[in-house]
Amino acid sequence: MTIPVLDAAALKGESPQQRDDFRSKLFESLSTYGFVKLINSPVQVPLVMETFDQIKKFFKLPLADKLPIVNDRTHSQQRGWCTPGEEKTWYLESNNGTIKEPDFGDSKESFDCGHPDDELFPNKWPAAAALSGYQETMERFFFSCGDLTLVLLEAIALEMKLDAKIFTSRCTNEASTIRINHFPPVEKAVLDRGDVSRIWPHKDFGIISLVFPGEVTELEYEDRSNPGTFLPMPYELDSREVVVIVGETMQRWTNGTMQAGLHRVNRPREMHGDIVPERWSLVYFNKADRHVQVGPLKEFVTQEKKAMYEDLSALEYQSLRNATHYPERVNEAKVGAAA
Ligand SMILES: [Fe+2]
Repeated sequence: MTIPVLDAAALKGESPQQRDDFRSKLFESLSTYGFVKLINSPVQVPLVMETFDQIKKFFKLPLADKLPIVNDRTHSQQRGWCTPGEEKTWYLESNNGTIKEPDFGDSKESFDCGHPDDELFPNKWPAAAALSGYQETMERFFFSCGDLTLVLLEAIALEMKLDAKIFTSRCTNEASTIRINHFPPVEKAVLDRGDVSRIWPHKDFGIISLVFPGEVTELEYEDRSNPGTFLPMPYELDSREVVVIVGETMQRWTNGTMQAGLHRVNRPREMHGDIVPERWSLVYFNKADRHVQVGPLKEFVTQEKKAMYEDLSALEYQSLRNATHYPERVNEAKVGAAA
């Protein structure tokens, strides 16, 4: 199976036929695979490049500049710098309870920020003197990605013959986040050992995600025709592709009609030498507004298809899923993607 590539220029095109065709293919790919790739996205290439430049500078900052903005893992939403190995995505989908005292880590560090006006989880920025323009670039990237997600959500709704605002009336991107990952160089033997991964198989918690994978191809997606196996997501930096991924909230809202896409970050399948090269990735997690319920919407519940997921607020769901990948908090997490 190959993930389709769609030309997002159709979104701004004059032709209703082009827009209809785009919507149809968007929905088909997201429903069938959980993924689609876009070219000519409205998130402009110079902004993506500028954001990559800034994040490379951020992770090179000395500890003294990053420690004041370290993430508080007791909060429901990450903000600031997640230290190397702190987040353990193994607990999201790989933990079946049979391994005693597991210590499966992620070989990565991250930075998270959200809406500039977020008062519940305020953003944490490095001092402007240490990294000028960083906050301004991230905020522009946040809004550009956010605008694209809302357009895609309306396109999905229309293709389902539903009210165009059925998803966007529940999402203003107030709770959405930018997640930036840095994967330092690591020995190939460490990743091949089986107890450390760059990112373990998981599904994103939100509605949809936008992933800008960077220049090293390592993002892999589950082959649904052969569950449990993964295929590399082909990606050429020059093609300016954006990967769109269905998240758990969309799966819950649609009562399983659209299934979240399982994915991971692996080392390149083909590589020379013993060191896996450094890598960065940019992600936008489009999330439901915090007060909104994330159980199945009534439009997806019938006599024959009862509600498959419990109703709880988006903030409660975020809190439970976030706690799952911090092992010291894992016992607090009662809700999984399929709960
Ligand atoms: Fe992810």
